[in-house]
Amino acid sequence: MESSTVSLSQPSASHPLQIERRALLPSFASMARSHSPDHNGVGEIRPLAAIRRALYIFLIVAGLAPGGCKEDSGNDVALLAALAAGGGCPSYDWNLPPGVPAPVVPSDNCMTPARVELGRHLFYDKALSRDESMSCASCHFQERAFADGKTRPRGIAHAGFPTGELHPRNAQHLSNAGYHTKLTWNNPLLDTLEGQSRVPLFSESGDNSIVELGLQDQQYLNKLASDDTYRQLFQQAYDGDISEQSVRFALASFQRSMTSFDSDYDRFIKGQGSLSPAAYRGFEVFNGEVAECFHCHGGFNFTDTSLHTNSGAVEFAFHNNGLYSDAEYNSKPTKGLQDISNQALDRGKFRAPSLRNIVLTMPYFHDGSVNCSSPPADATNRTAMEACAREALTVIVDMYRAGGDAAKRGQPTGAAVDASLIRPFSITDSQRDDLVEFLISLTDWSFASRSDLANPRPSHSRFGR
Ligand code: HEC
Ligand code: HEC
Repeated sequence: MESSTVSLSQPSASHPLQIERRALLPSFASMARSHSPDHNGVGEIRPLAAIRRALYIFLIVAGLAPGGCKEDSGNDVALLAALAAGGGCPSYDWNLPPGVPAPVVPSDNCMTPARVELGRHLFYDKALSRDESMSCASCHFQERAFADGKTRPRGIAHAGFPTGELHPRNAQHLSNAGYHTKLTWNNPLLDTLEGQSRVPLFSESGDNSIVELGLQDQQYLNKLASDDTYRQLFQQAYDGDISEQSVRFALASFQRSMTSFDSDYDRFIKGQGSLSPAAYRGFEVFNGEVAECFHCHGGFNFTDTSLHTNSGAVEFAFHNNGLYSDAEYNSKPTKGLQDISNQALDRGKFRAPSLRNIVLTMPYFHDGSVNCSSPPADATNRTAMEACAREALTVIVDMYRAGGDAAKRGQPTGAAVDASLIRPFSITDSQRDDLVEFLISLTDWSFASRSDLANPRPSHSRFGR
């Protein structure tokens, strides 16, 4: 380990990196704009996507977008309304660092502390599953940035599935969930947090009908209504409306409050902390045109599928990063965007995950196929988690360096791979190790223990995972 560090706030003339750094570092705002739409897959998803994108821009500029989202928030009209919303909501203290834009909020579900607090209760409450055995928190653990450490999670036990159905994909972390233009690994139809929770709650979605929480009737609402704390929380949040919609809306508000911008990297950008020289060199590899990582994992949230209050248009992309050959996907439980679009050319395309909190979110990839050899059971053990991430991320960078894992294993690269970005490239082993150190610096340990995101009623038997 190198002992000296690179810092913005305490310039050390002796450090060779110090001089060029200020010029190199883009501000958060410009980083948010920096990703290149030329490399996104919008045009390949649906033929009308480009036209729709142009329409979004036109409507927003012309101020013609409809002004309030419908009960059904899971569609583009709702997103458009959200984008156009702008005013109407009372101001909310996001507690974001300077220069970080706030997430977009639908005009019919303004952020309020009461809604966030209600959502926090619901997120941890097993009353939201058919048999009171699981909550959202059962697959989204705070100490893992709301991922769960498993390859793929299982839903509640039910007829035919005594140990629960195995989800086709790995549970995602929820850090900065409020900024995603599209939710989940590969579903372009899930636009809003208000709509997404229908999938785990009621098994509603285009492709994934597995039972997660398995709610079937209104019983869970009766349980909430018979609890004094909930009656008070619903009163403060939604004028006492204890309904399926306010449950989903409160969960969305809580998840929008899961902002995470306090990593070593963030403190470095703000001039309040330092990066190791290795991590700083890795930052340059990440943003360089040899490794090309930033094209898909760029911007303030380290993914090219972000939306925030300074966004000019709704942009999203799905990519095939060369993990498997097209033939290998025949035997996989998910084929990426193809599951939804039924287009062969969408095989193996997924949303590029945000690389924030990467030390907490192993196993990696949509199928959780990459992990270290002995993953630590205790995610709060920073040294052990970093060692695990270092090992697993080295494997991942080696995959990219070989032009994708399929290519590395001598398999043909998928037809949907963008060959200008996913192709063998040459960096030294020490540059690879630097890149891994940079990725590790994107982890915000305070997020994993923030008290306002923790279980609000840990002593209540129904609350927890
Ligand atoms: C059985 C485990 C399980 C439970 C329970 C569960 N989730 Fe998830 N969650 C997942 C998995 C797996 C994914 C990835 C889904 C996919 O790609 O189809 C996911 C994805 C998400 C996403 C998308 C994140 C992103 O980056 O796009 C959100 C938001 C989310 N879950 C919220 C919730 C909420 C809210 C609840 C409770 C109502 C919940 N989850 C319950 C396993 C679970
Ligand atoms: C063409 C777009 C693209 C490029 C370029 C790219 N990635 Fe990715 N990356 C993806 C996609 C898509 C996934 C998810 C793939 C999957 O799960 O099948 C991913 C997944 C990852 C993951 C796993 C994250 C997780 O939470 O599971 C890491 C780490 C990663 N990429 C790092 C990098 C690095 C480092 C580079 C540069 C060497 C890079 N990526 C270049 C698109 C890209």
